[in-house]
Amino acid sequence: MLGHPRFELLLGDVEQAFELRVNKIYNLACPASPVHYQRNPVKTVRTNILGAINVLDLANKTGARVLQASTSEVYGDPQEHPQKESYWGHVNPVGVRACYDEGKRAAETLFYDYHRQHGVDVRVARIFNTYGPKMALDDGRVVSNFIVSALQNKPLTVYGDGSQTRSFCYVADLVSGLMALMESDYKQPVNLGNPLEFSMLELAKKVVAMTGSKSKIVFKDLPSDDPKQRQPDIGIAKSLGWEPKVDIHIGLQTTIHYFKRLLCAQ
Ligand SMILES: NC(=O)c1ccc[n+]([C@@H]2O[C@H](COP(=O)([O-])OP(=O)(O)OC[C@H]3O[C@@H](n4cnc5c(N)ncnc54)[C@H](O)[C@@H]3O)[C@@H](O)[C@H]2O)c1
Repeated sequence: MLGHPRFELLLGDVEQAFELRVNKIYNLACPASPVHYQRNPVKTVRTNILGAINVLDLANKTGARVLQASTSEVYGDPQEHPQKESYWGHVNPVGVRACYDEGKRAAETLFYDYHRQHGVDVRVARIFNTYGPKMALDDGRVVSNFIVSALQNKPLTVYGDGSQTRSFCYVADLVSGLMALMESDYKQPVNLGNPLEFSMLELAKKVVAMTGSKSKIVFKDLPSDDPKQRQPDIGIAKSLGWEPKVDIHIGLQTTIHYFKRLLCAQ
């Protein structure tokens, strides 16, 4: 992107206030993988809350529309399945995941308070697990962990008995969903994700088969507050004209190809 004439990269910490001439803001800044966001949980809370305040202040000053990358983690370990946007969630406010989950929930609160109090034009996307090329080798989330281990013939670690489920959305689908939401008139939170649900054990077996790996699957204790199931209800996103298109098999193939090249280049 750096070579593109209409692209400019400015480095900064979203915790610090900044001034820019903008008309649309996508606030994606926040570590998203549990290993990364739990490394410095106080920083994660600050990024979520001060970051939201700073982008909202900027939107308020400039009149820009602002989209928040929120998360399915606002539903916590859900007691409603699949999750609709109307569900208020089931989050442990003092657990190790709270810096992210509650940080994102507080950011949503700020978005709607700035909207009600100052008329800021807000959009909120609740993103479900997303995967695809350009993830880092040490990202630490399940799809990249499984693929990188399988390509190296190392054991794939499944937590608990592997029956917990997630729904995985290919990155290109997610990006088109974020853009569709930004361009829509819909101001309430919208789930963006792929409703096709997999157990972690099924995913591990699929990755081993697709990579032709000799890896074994090993089981470890479940981390605390790990959600047991996750599946978006995407009725609202569909009514805005968006739904995911990329089949999981194709998405995984593309991602495996990307990680193969990355490992070869090392
Ligand atoms: N990928 C997913 O499955 C998923 C799911 C739900 C929500 N989200 C949200 O979408 C957004 C992007 O996710 P991702 O998977 O690309 O995450 P990522 O962790 O791969 O990237 C996050 C980016 O945010 C930047 N960042 C972190 N703290 C910052 C700070 N204080 N100031 C400025 N930049 C900062 C990082 O440098 C990095 O470029 C995040 O807000 C995340 O919470 C992602």
